[in-house]
Amino acid sequence: MPELSSMPRPEVTADSGKPVLGAIAITRLRESDYRAVVELFRHLGPKYSCDLNDPRTKSTFDLYLADERKHGLVARLGDRIVGVILYEITPVLSIGFSHGRNDGLAVDPEFRGLGIAKLLLRSVLSHCREVGATTYMVKASNPKVISLYRSMPDLVERGIYFYTI
Ligand SMILES: CC(C)(COP(=O)(O)OP(=O)(O)OC[C@H]1O[C@@H](n2cnc3c(N)ncnc32)[C@H](O)[C@@H]1OP(=O)(O)O)[C@@H](O)C(=O)NCCC(=O)NCCS
Repeated sequence: MPELSSMPRPEVTADSGKPVLGAIAITRLRESDYRAVVELFRHLGPKYSCDLNDPRTKSTFDLYLADERKHGLVARLGDRIVGVILYEITPVLSIGFSHGRNDGLAVDPEFRGLGIAKLLLRSVLSHCREVGATTYMVKASNPKVISLYRSMPDLVERGIYFYTI
């Protein structure tokens, strides 16, 4: 994981000119972010709505702090966490290749439309480039979310995914 100082600064990469964006800091996930992240993930739908008191929720969250392949970035506005992205970068059996995969992205409804999701994604893409990841996979079925990804020139649409379960 690169130092965050080497990641794009919000003021530089933001699409929105709204002042709040300049006050957003993108930082690595911390243990103390547990509650806020679990609550933000509920916006992804029922499958991502986890019980804070279930030890499985905490142990999975902890992987994003401790497992060298799993990562998390949060968007902070002062003490408040207004967005999160969890992802994995893992090697594949092809010399020099590693794949990034989005594990979830959510922004507080009060702070949507300001460019925070794009900022988080671009920070992740910057990390992927630094470690030489060859792809970063995001999945989306909501047309609005698809249009968010399609609006980013740094994401190239490729392929189609079939679900068997
Ligand atoms: C998708 C999500 C992360 C976008 O966050 P955001 O910070 O508002 O996104 P940005 O401000 O960077 O980009 C805004 C773009 O998102 C898209 N978008 C996605 N969902 C949207 C929604 N519900 N309402 C409006 N725009 C939405 C639009 O294309 C918009 O583009 P525009 O500003 O040019 O109109 C946020 O709506 C969210 O948390 N949704 C619930 C969880 C989810 O669906 N996550 C993505 C699946 S992994």
